[in-house]
Amino acid sequence: MRSVLITGGAGFIGQNLVHAWRAAHPDDRLTVIDAMTYAANLRSLDPLIARGEIRFVKGDINDAAMLRRLFEENRFTRVAHLAAESHVDRSIDDPEAFLNTNVLGTFSLLKASLDFWRASGMLNASEMLNASGMLAASNQVRFLHVSTDEVYGSLDPTDAPFSEQSPYRPNSPYAASKAASDHLVRSFVATYGMPALITNCSNNYGPYQHPEKLIPLMIIHALEGKPLPIYGDGTNIRDWLHVSDHCHAVMAVIERGRLGETYNIGGGNERNNRDVVGVICETLDRAFAADPKLAARFPSCPAAAGHSCRSLIAYVTDRPGHDHRYAINAGKLANDLGERCRVDFQDGLAETIRWYLDHEDWWRDVTSGTYKAWIDKNYGFRIAV
Ligand code: NAD
Ligand code: DAU
Repeated sequence: MRSVLITGGAGFIGQNLVHAWRAAHPDDRLTVIDAMTYAANLRSLDPLIARGEIRFVKGDINDAAMLRRLFEENRFTRVAHLAAESHVDRSIDDPEAFLNTNVLGTFSLLKASLDFWRASGMLNASEMLNASGMLAASNQVRFLHVSTDEVYGSLDPTDAPFSEQSPYRPNSPYAASKAASDHLVRSFVATYGMPALITNCSNNYGPYQHPEKLIPLMIIHALEGKPLPIYGDGTNIRDWLHVSDHCHAVMAVIERGRLGETYNIGGGNERNNRDVVGVICETLDRAFAADPKLAARFPSCPAAAGHSCRSLIAYVTDRPGHDHRYAINAGKLANDLGERCRVDFQDGLAETIRWYLDHEDWWRDVTSGTYKAWIDKNYGFRIAV
């Protein structure tokens, strides 16, 4: 039985990872730590917590004493580190929290893991480094740092996709904070023999994603008859990956990846924002035409009156420093670990739209209260272009 710590487990990818991990390794003992920021939600984990199937700790990864206690109590053999401030627009508005959690928090977690693993004898640094300074394979303890493709900056339309050798060129405070955290992990590997790995992943979508991000924001705004705010001219390209594919890749890397290495994870689905929003509109138009009950539930949606949701599209002031294109070469993950993306983008997006239609309680809860203040702040100043 492994004892696994998942940080940020109440966030979008974290919740999906908890469920995927339990399905793949039912005997493992899972502990989730999450500071429960605005981005967290425990609804999908509450039944597991109530039945004692996972342990949940509300806490900040900057709290070194709490981390020490948790390591002593649980003797973690795996750490999957997802806790982060994750929204680019918020990092432009107020970068400080990004440095505190993404940089200092990652440092604090690295140090707590290393200190405990060394003190307990679960990791012997001198044995971990061979003559050429490379990490020896060990399955005893492993630390996975979940990072982003944004650390590589922006691609031009004809550039080759990002590989693990691409230089770091972060453009937003969020991307810079993730880049700094990647460098810290790398330095712990090289300096202390930390048994760590890094994944750099492209844009995820799927159930439980916070409505501040492009895909859920557009679905929910369309249902509520609000403008669909596309930044700039909408030609920016993202490489979309279903969250379940990300979770499978994360589990493969933490178990079978070569210590000290980086693996890129991507969907092979490059789409520009105009197209993504267009597909969302068309899917909703068809769903309303096929199911008259939707019009009664969402009377403000244009599709309720037989009009297309496309009528809500509004091109607005661009995001400063907006990266034009991300694309991932996931060849190393496929060749070395046999992991490939399984979910087709059209199917995954249709299933995601269906999930938001079926989980109105969830997103109404998430979008109440302080979220409204964020929407006013982030979109109030943007003018139509
Ligand atoms: P999210 O914002 O939905 O969730 C992050 C979670 O971390 C939240 O539950 C939050 O409460 C928690 N958290 C924040 N600060 C904390 C702290 N100081 N201590 C403990 N917990 C804290 O983010 P997500 O989309 O699920 O992303 C998870 C990870 O994956 C992040 O590291 C992100 O950089 C990375 N990533 C995300 C994507 C994507 O498309 N969403 C793509 C690539 C990489
Ligand atoms: O690439 C991986 C990254 O993907 C992760 O590391 C981040 O945590 C995650 O938030 C995501 O970053 P993006 O900035 O790409 O995601 P976002 O959903 O914010 O925006 C996707 C694209 O849509 C981007 O080009 C900006 C655009 N956009 C976004 C919003 C919220 C709009 O045009 N309008 C909007 O209202």
